[in-house]
Amino acid sequence: MLEETEGVADRKGYTEEEVNWYLMPTLMHLPPGWYAIAESREIPKGKLVALERFATNLLLWRSSEQLVIMDDRCPHRSARLSLGKLRNGAVTCPFHGFEFSDSGACTFVPETKNPAPNLSVQTYRVNEHDGMVFVRVGEHSGEYPPWFDEISDDFAHSTLTSVWACHITRCIENQLDYAHLPFLHGSTIGGGVDPSLSAEFELSEEGIKVYTNRANKKTFFQFKFPNIWLLSIIPDRLLLLLAFAPIDDKRTKLYLRTYQRFCTFPLLNNILGWIMNWQNKLVLKQDEKVVLSQSPSSSMRADDERLYPSDQGIAFFRKQWKARMQKDNDAGVGESQLCRLCDS
Ligand code: FES
Ligand SMILES: [Fe+2]
Repeated sequence: MLEETEGVADRKGYTEEEVNWYLMPTLMHLPPGWYAIAESREIPKGKLVALERFATNLLLWRSSEQLVIMDDRCPHRSARLSLGKLRNGAVTCPFHGFEFSDSGACTFVPETKNPAPNLSVQTYRVNEHDGMVFVRVGEHSGEYPPWFDEISDDFAHSTLTSVWACHITRCIENQLDYAHLPFLHGSTIGGGVDPSLSAEFELSEEGIKVYTNRANKKTFFQFKFPNIWLLSIIPDRLLLLLAFAPIDDKRTKLYLRTYQRFCTFPLLNNILGWIMNWQNKLVLKQDEKVVLSQSPSSSMRADDERLYPSDQGIAFFRKQWKARMQKDNDAGVGESQLCRLCDS
């Protein structure tokens, strides 16, 4: 089981009104797209892994053919399949032993000793890239997940994770906001940064690219819809990648990877990774404290905020995010929990 099990199906602490709202996907403020939701190493062969994403309990496992993502709920009488067993390439439900293949089909019912053609578990389209697991949400998504060309095969990386108690939009916007550097990170990465710095923005359907040093286009940060971000610290040498995995409308798991190609010796790489993670942890803590204080938790309900020129990326992000959600709603997606994660 993963560390997120702290929140799996746990609705405690919510008022009745909030629970109702919580279960309404149209108000979850998530547009369609290929979302990075986990790392491949979290799903070892032979294990059933429970993961909560998009306020849905998901089950991840590896068949001989592929990585499988399916609902963690038996269609017979709703037991958690993750409590069952993985045997002969099929998941066996812990309650009455029904078996399900990697396509979600029910292949065996002990009571009838036959398959049940009308019974299946919802499965989702999945892709793995550079050890990151992506799931396709909604129908208006491309064939493949987004990625960054800057990350070539000869980079080594180490990962730091953190769960923030806020909506994904606030986490993303925090990474588009360079104006907070001298204030929030004066003691770490923001010391000496000019608060009146004027960055250059490149805004496109794909995402938002920001050059904080107009004279040097090799250092930048970039966000790609719906949930990955890259910072080029030392071009071709040192990069930071962030993926924002939405657990639900009040929690987001951050996967922060440091990519480097100074050294590829495993031991030295581990030491470098440890040092970078230690520094990144400090910076994330500085961010988290203030981001969690923002209200409302989702920036999609923050229309009364007054944005400044440095917020140009954030303004564009909000507009695009809303437009993308609208496109999804127009197509009828979002009317049920299942539709949000569409496998077609
Ligand atoms: S609840 Fe899964 S087999 Fe009955
Ligand atoms: Fe920050």
